[in-house]
Amino acid sequence: MTISARTLFPLLFASLLLFGCSSKDPEEPARETSPRLTPADVDGELLATGGDGSSWVAANFNYQEQRFSPLDQIDRSNVSRLGVAWTAELPDARAQEATPIVVGRRMFVTGPWSKIFAFNAVTGEALWSFDPEVERSVLRNTCCDAVNRGVAVWRGRLYLGTLDGRLISIDANTGAQLWSTQTTDRSQPYTITGTPRVVDNKVIIGNGGAEFGVRGYVSAYDANDGRLLWRFYTVPNPEGEADNAASDQVLRRAAARTWSEEGQWRESGGGGTVWDAIVYDHELDQLYIGVGNGSPWNHGARSQGRGDNLFLSSIVALDPDTGEYLWHYQETPGESWDFTATQHIILADLRMPVRDEEGGIVEGEDGEPRTESRKVLMQAPKNGFFFVIDRTNGELISADPFIEGINWAEGYNLETGRPIENPAARFYRTGEPFISNPGPIGAHNWQPMAYNRETGLVYIPANIAPQIHVPAPGEGPIALGDIGFNTGGDWSDINLPRDEEAIRAAISMVTGQLVAFDPVAGEVRWTADYPTPWNGGIMTTAGGLVFQGTAMGQFKAYDAASGEELWSMDTQSGVLAGASTYQIDGVQYVAFTTGRGGAFAITAGRADRAREIPNIPRLVVLRLGGDGRLPPAPAGDERRLDPPESTGSEAQIAQGQRLFNRYCLVCHGEGAVGGGVNPDLRFSGILGDSEGWRDIVIGGALRSNGMPSFSSAFDGSGANAIRHYVIDKANWDLERIRARREEEGEG
Ligand code: HEC
Repeated sequence: MTISARTLFPLLFASLLLFGCSSKDPEEPARETSPRLTPADVDGELLATGGDGSSWVAANFNYQEQRFSPLDQIDRSNVSRLGVAWTAELPDARAQEATPIVVGRRMFVTGPWSKIFAFNAVTGEALWSFDPEVERSVLRNTCCDAVNRGVAVWRGRLYLGTLDGRLISIDANTGAQLWSTQTTDRSQPYTITGTPRVVDNKVIIGNGGAEFGVRGYVSAYDANDGRLLWRFYTVPNPEGEADNAASDQVLRRAAARTWSEEGQWRESGGGGTVWDAIVYDHELDQLYIGVGNGSPWNHGARSQGRGDNLFLSSIVALDPDTGEYLWHYQETPGESWDFTATQHIILADLRMPVRDEEGGIVEGEDGEPRTESRKVLMQAPKNGFFFVIDRTNGELISADPFIEGINWAEGYNLETGRPIENPAARFYRTGEPFISNPGPIGAHNWQPMAYNRETGLVYIPANIAPQIHVPAPGEGPIALGDIGFNTGGDWSDINLPRDEEAIRAAISMVTGQLVAFDPVAGEVRWTADYPTPWNGGIMTTAGGLVFQGTAMGQFKAYDAASGEELWSMDTQSGVLAGASTYQIDGVQYVAFTTGRGGAFAITAGRADRAREIPNIPRLVVLRLGGDGRLPPAPAGDERRLDPPESTGSEAQIAQGQRLFNRYCLVCHGEGAVGGGVNPDLRFSGILGDSEGWRDIVIGGALRSNGMPSFSSAFDGSGANAIRHYVIDKANWDLERIRARREEEGEG
């Protein structure tokens, strides 16, 4: 049996008290060292600029969301002197995705299960914490772990979206709940993982759930009392009715005809969830939302292979006062590969080349290309192309690849704004499987990127992770289920062949990169290569630095101009979230969390070499000359595979594999290899106990810990088949490990 996060918690809490800070006077009262927030912290004026950088007031720094700090005390020349100022242990060993927010001397960071933790930003003293007590059974509605990406701060209050769909207002000084409102229908599989944004006393929040079957929308609530002000649905009402929402008109006028009459979208809601990017443009007073993938993914099943399916995979501009539609740009028409346009959006003014009607670059009298300043938004979505869009009207300026080997499209026609597709990519049309690069993890996922105004470069935490899409076998689409991912594709054969060479080859194809991209030239300037995808978000500073943590357990600083690695620290655990930086009493700090998990770690256990890296949920704060130390690293966990003998019939094992891939892979890992978050079933102590197994998988014995019951999907014999598959796979892996050990021993 694995040690659950629950049993670890008291231990970790004790260490929080021990290691919470390195240089604190225990007599010092919290209030004096971290003054309370007032209703003036934070307002729209501060959000518009981010201020002088002494605070980090929003998840992505300010309204432009550039993640560029004007601080420069830490720079190229001295970054190697960075050391630990203080650390704090956090309770949940799941993905930590939030950037620490700092207002004055207080830091707020969120963690899994939508919890908030408040600290004194200088001493690390824990001030308060808030737990919305999300039922663990909600995990069945999450595609990608029980994550949260942060709070918004507005006039002395915090705003939190919870995994079960609540929006909560909290007193930033005490952690007391002020109001709470349910933003979703609890009978549907909606979740919230994203950060709310506040615009002029309105709190804007979206949601997720498109893998399970929901209809996406964003809503605005009154910051004072949680009253719903407006709602914008991103896809038409499947019943064909009006919603009495801000979206009614544009859905009727423009979107409805881009969906087929029939098709599974009528049943599954169509998708289009807005689960991350929501950006306010204070110069143009516009709100931009990044819209997600289709539900189901497969365009053939969803919409009979017909229509663009607006506003899936689009950036939509809205009037923040009313939620009315202003313009949109669709990045992936007829989305069929889980290509969301939800990724981080950055606003900037760029000097772009002037182009003639044919798209040619216009030269000035001196023979140099003429340039003009344009108000743009930039996004590097899952589909692998970097988009620069005119934010005054939604016009596509450029779309260039930011990773190599993209194969679903060869580029974009800038006149029509549409991709030039590879016909083989529409697997439901050809009837043939398609190995798509990027895969559903995306060339870039939720990990935030950053734009450095001084180098003019955007730094993208990129993934190279192709994945196969297989059309439904036989006639007609795969039936939708009430549990498990509804992709509309056939995942039953997603396992790699049981062949050492094939496994090594596949793993070596799946890597990660830090990409420094020039948005004006549309070209990659430099890259740093990593052995695995799913590395941390980015932060960049006027000190000429780019900071990023890695899945393999380092936190690194690069020269923003040249890409030279200047400094690296061992963090004991993988890093996913982006860092923030702030300055108090003349000292610049850099803050980030460690902790592994999220979509890639939980689904692709085998391809994720980082699975051997411990999963330690921890807040780490650095400063120049910091002489603190991380708590001692945990002793290596020498778990040995020891499965029962494989006694299942070939047919049972094959059926078990199909069911595992359909229902279990997304949490317990491809090939039953766990990714270090949910239990690795090959090690389970109840593999040999068919009744105990059945109690969990069918009976729901661990439902309250997040392990769903699958009684609506298959019966006891199905559960038993899965058990036989996992036993068989564990035995095969054991043989492989033994063979490798012998090989190494001999070599
Ligand atoms: C939504 C995520 C999720 C899915 C999908 C999921 N599980 Fe789990 N599973 C969990 C979590 C979380 C736990 C740990 C529960 C605990 O700590 O008690 C778990 C635990 C288990 C355990 C107990 C392991 C042990 O040794 O304690 C078994 C057995 C299991 N799962 C089987 C399955 C099977 C079979 C499927 C597919 C039919 C499946 N799970 C699908 C999340 C999931």
